Parts: sequence; C-alpha cells; structure tokens
Amino acid sequence: MPALVLLGAQWGDEGKGKATDLLGGSVDYVVRYQGGNNAGHTVVVGDQKYALHLLPSGILSPDCTPVIGNGVVVDPSVLLSELSGLNERGIDTSKLLISGNAHIITPYNVTVDKVTERFLGKRKIGTTGRGIGPTYADKINRVGIRVQDLYDESILAQKVEAALDAKNQILTKLYNRRAIVADQVVEELLGYAEQIKPYVADTVLVLNQALEDNKVVLFEGGQGTLLDIDHGTYPFVTSSNPTAGGACTGAGVGPTKISRVIGILKAYTTRVGAGPFPTELFDEDGEALRRIGGERGVTTGRDRRCGWFDAVIARYATRVNGLTDFFLTKLDVLTGWEEIPVCVAYEIDGRRVQELPYSQTDFHHAKPVYEMLPGWSEDITKAKTFADLPKNAQDYVKALEELSGAPISAIGVGPGRDETIEINSFI
Ligand code: IMP
Repeated sequence: MPALVLLGAQWGDEGKGKATDLLGGSVDYVVRYQGGNNAGHTVVVGDQKYALHLLPSGILSPDCTPVIGNGVVVDPSVLLSELSGLNERGIDTSKLLISGNAHIITPYNVTVDKVTERFLGKRKIGTTGRGIGPTYADKINRVGIRVQDLYDESILAQKVEAALDAKNQILTKLYNRRAIVADQVVEELLGYAEQIKPYVADTVLVLNQALEDNKVVLFEGGQGTLLDIDHGTYPFVTSSNPTAGGACTGAGVGPTKISRVIGILKAYTTRVGAGPFPTELFDEDGEALRRIGGERGVTTGRDRRCGWFDAVIARYATRVNGLTDFFLTKLDVLTGWEEIPVCVAYEIDGRRVQELPYSQTDFHHAKPVYEMLPGWSEDITKAKTFADLPKNAQDYVKALEELSGAPISAIGVGPGRDETIEINSFI
C-alpha cells in the first residue's frame, strides 16, 4: 500500500507540480488534502504549460484518478472553469472525484477575505483573496457549506442564512458594505450543483479501498510547511495544514498507511505575502533569482520575495513532517554565481541559533548566518545523472542534504518533465 505524501518544505511554490507530474505515470490516485485555489501548480508537458490552482496535478495523467479530499475548500466557479479549460485542450477530466465533505468557498467568503485584508491595512496577511481563510473559519465555526449541501435545497438555504446572519451584521455595521442576500447566494450555488454532481463521491472509502488493493496513492500538499496554520510563521500563514499530518485528516487516511513523505525543496528560498523571511534579498542577487527563476505567483501574478537557501527551515520541515526524502528543485537557477551563500544558522540578539525559534519575536529578529559554497557556470539542464553535474553543483547538493537532515532523491535541473535527475526512485 504505497501511500506517499508530497509537500512543500518552505513557503510554497517549490515546484510541486513538476514533482507530482514526474510520478504521475506510476501513481493511481493523486489527492489534494487541504487548501483551495490559493495554490498554483505549473506543470509543463512537452511544449504545453498548464497552470492548475484547485485540481490535483494528476489530472494530466490519463491513468490517474484525481481526488479532491474532504480537507480542501472548493470554489465551484473556479472548479468548473478549470475543468472546462482543460477539456478545451483535450484533457479528459471525467475521472475526478470530489469529497462530499469538502467545504465550498461561497461568494461571501471571498468578499470577507478581501474586506478583512483591506481593514487590516499595514497588518494585512497578503492573502490570495480567494476566500480561503473565511471558508475555513466557517468550517471551524460550524457554519460552513459543504459540497453535499448543494443537493438538499432546503438545508442549503438554511445554512446560507445562518452563515450570513452574523456576517451581514459585520459587513454592514463594521465594514460599511452592503448586506449579502441569502437567496441570491443559494441560487448561484444551486446553479453549479448539477455540473459538479458526477464527480461527488465518498472519497474516504475510495481511497482506503485503493490502499487495501495495493494501489499507489499520492497526497499532494498545497502551499508549504512554513505556511501551515499550526507549524508555520503564524499569523502569516494559510488557514489549513499543508504538513504531513494534514494528509491524514484532509483525506481520511490513517497515519499508519503513509509510507513515504517527500519534501519539495527549492535550491533557494521564496515567499509571497507578508511575514518574516530571514534570508530575503533586497539587492541585485534577489532580483536575479526572481528573473532567472521566473518567480512570479501562478495564482496571483505577484512577484515572489527571493532569498538564499535556508537550512534551518529545511531541517524544521524534516522534523515536523517526518520527511523521508527531498526533491530539490530549480538547481539550474543558481548556475552562474561564483559563490552561493547558504544559511546554516541564525543569529538572534547576539546568540547563534541552530533550530527554528518557536517564538515569533525571535524569528522576526533572526539574521542569517551564511556559509559560502563555490558556484558553477556550466549548463546543467541536460544532466541526466548526479555524476553529470559539475563538481561544485554536486557539492552544493550534498551540503544541502547534510544540512537538511533527509536524503535528496531527485533534482530538478529545468522546468520540463524530463529535466530531472532521479537518484532514488520514490515508488
Ligand atoms: P491565503 O491562503 O489566501 O489565505 O493566504 C495566506 C498566505 O499564504 C499569504 O501569504 C499567501 O501569499 C500565502 N499563500 C497561499 N497560497 C500559496 C501558495 O500556493 N504558494 C505560496 N504562498 C501561498
């Protein structure tokens, strides 16, 4: 029962789409277990580039069943437009399964997300504005709307009314906005119901049966470890659990079933939105990483903040996820630097600190302690094996592996599907 979790080891955007897609051919199910259309995976197949936000990247592999688990939040309009976009390009999406327990991002959740951010002003989180946080808040407050509610009109109407009771008070009295009319929301949601119905399934049962039948199931995390609501740089985080435990709750599979946890690790670091980022660069090196790495958000189109590799964060990701392997991505972006700084520890108020500080204040004060590694200038995009890499690139990878605490089993040397060096097979 090979059940693999694949997740971001930094602040998201590590190149998970490429990694998932690499495994696509040998995987029977690809499952998203948290997040929603705040995610953005770019997958390159041949000369075609696909930007996926909500759908699992396995949707591009014809033999794979893509699954949206109960832990995901689903914006029905985004779901349908993403599906029809793929259909227009000849991709068959009929195998998709969606949990009836997944929560729906309603139009009012999107409104609340945007209004709240505006209201926070300087203190804003820099959310993607997709309604993610407010939808999870409704779920926890037990006033959420689930996919299954679309198929009981009277329940749906009652639930939307209940959810809007308090929200309309806040929207009108605090934010000076117009109240949202429950009937209009119900009508809009019912308009999606029939189109979504063929995909709705008891995904927990399907996945557990698949594992019993020895199928290969891949759980694909959105965002990244440091954006986890519990283990990330709170409050500058997303509202779900991208870390490995989230795969269990967000898909309804017990922890004893998980056989491997693979962390996707970019050869340098990026983040979007606000929040601490010790190795962030504000100079031409940061600009160069952004330009060469194409560091612009797939979902929001925002420029990503860029910095050197941070081994403290990588070690932390190994620990909180119980990582068994790393997939190192975008090594080619670092080609051309004479020396590459790698953050091995932090200095906080004059103290050298090896591990991620648990106090938010300390983390905000953390200054990177760098070790300089020699760079390389040779083109590495054609490398097929580890031995094909120039010696300095090999040493860079080995240093990252040693500092991060788990073996690097694959290395991305270019954006294409075949521009990957596989060191150990994942399956
Ligand atoms: P939210 O997920 O839209 O609520 O945004 C919360 C924080 O997570 C913001 O800093 C976002 O920029 C960040 N975020 C959300 N999704 C992603 C992602 O897929 N990659 C990187 N950052 C993300």
